[in-house]
Amino acid sequence: MRKDSKTSDTVVPLRTMPEHLDAMSRPLHDLRISVMDRCNFRCPYCMPEDKYHPKFRFLDRDQRLTFTEIGRLTRLFVQLGAHKLRITGGEPLLRTGVADLIADLSQLDGVSDVAMTTNAVLLAQHAAKLAASGLSRVTVSLDALDEETFSRTTGGRGGVARVLDGIDAAVEAGLTPIKVNAVVERGVNDHAVLSMVEHFRGTGIIVRFIEYMDVGNINHWRRRDMVPSAELLQMIAARWPLTPVDANYHGEVANRYHFDDGNGEIGFISSVTEPFCGSCTRARLSSDGQMYTCLFASEGLDLRTPLRGGVSDQELLELITAVWQKRKDRYSELRAKMPSDADPHKVEMYYIGG
Ligand code: GTP
Ligand code: 5AD
Ligand code: SF4
Ligand code: SF4
Repeated sequence: MRKDSKTSDTVVPLRTMPEHLDAMSRPLHDLRISVMDRCNFRCPYCMPEDKYHPKFRFLDRDQRLTFTEIGRLTRLFVQLGAHKLRITGGEPLLRTGVADLIADLSQLDGVSDVAMTTNAVLLAQHAAKLAASGLSRVTVSLDALDEETFSRTTGGRGGVARVLDGIDAAVEAGLTPIKVNAVVERGVNDHAVLSMVEHFRGTGIIVRFIEYMDVGNINHWRRRDMVPSAELLQMIAARWPLTPVDANYHGEVANRYHFDDGNGEIGFISSVTEPFCGSCTRARLSSDGQMYTCLFASEGLDLRTPLRGGVSDQELLELITAVWQKRKDRYSELRAKMPSDADPHKVEMYYIGG
């Protein structure tokens, strides 16, 4: 059953334990749960086809956490302060029965928001059930609206019409506010930005443009391929005047702007030019049960082994708490000071979720 409609603005209820702060005084507020390392797209900045070919060994089924295991760990993270949950992948809708997991997670005391990041190709067929299971809202990854550019950004998979049908179904099911995340790469889809704004303005759907980041090692990121948000803001505001508005909540990653003509809002996620590590309250759980405290981490904490080894909830809580309390991650802030040829080993986005 769908609980009362919850959004990230909802006041957070119950805490069963005192808030745990990391080494930089940041609390744990969000848990991002990857349920599937596979994806039906091959976005070149995330899963380039030449590496993720048909013979690539993704995780085996028994390596992935079961829903019961995810539920148990999530309950512990919620006890430590997490109240926003995000289901990610790869592509989360490739995980059979993901609505059943959402039904369990959305019932946890202390959870105020259960969102999902999806490429929306399978969303039309799942939206109603997801909403009925308690999913609060969806965020759709979509980098362009013309077929040619779309195809370039997805590695030739999917189709614009199916994604838009998925968005329509999500609106119909009340999975709102719906956000569209567009990663902007210079020379790839920067020419498609204005038409995306034009298309979604006035629909209630919030487009957020993301600076292309150096997540993982396989995308061979170069700073010059990233389009600074300031540049996009100037271009968009020249056509549709914009006014900045306050964040919905402390630590919101997007800088929000309203259209002066009342046609809704857009956002910019500027982790390269304006890092937001100081307010980063996010922990991540991979589909095989590794906990990561940063999107750019090289190593995680293996929770699956103790979980399957029969340890108690208390022991798991202690493991998670110890890692969070030691957490000093602030990769995006440090990136600026790194030598340009530095290429530290980092976990890949498709594996850890966005
Ligand atoms: P709302 O809850 O809707 O505000 O969204 P969110 O904060 O959960 O953001 P979302 O999951 O939609 O993230 C959008 C994009 O922002 C991701 O795909 C990443 O590109 C980037 N992003 C999100 N979290 C982080 C983070 O902790 N660090 C960095 N560097 N980028 C992040
Ligand atoms: N830089 C910024 N965002 C990225 N995403 C994937 N790879 C990158 C990257 N290199 C985003 C996608 C999607 C989410 C899963 O992560 O847009 O919304
Ligand atoms: Fe799949 Fe999202 Fe990665 Fe694209 S960015 S390959 S849709 S996980
Ligand atoms: Fe958080 Fe790491 Fe992103 Fe900084 S770089 S905001 S610490 S996930």
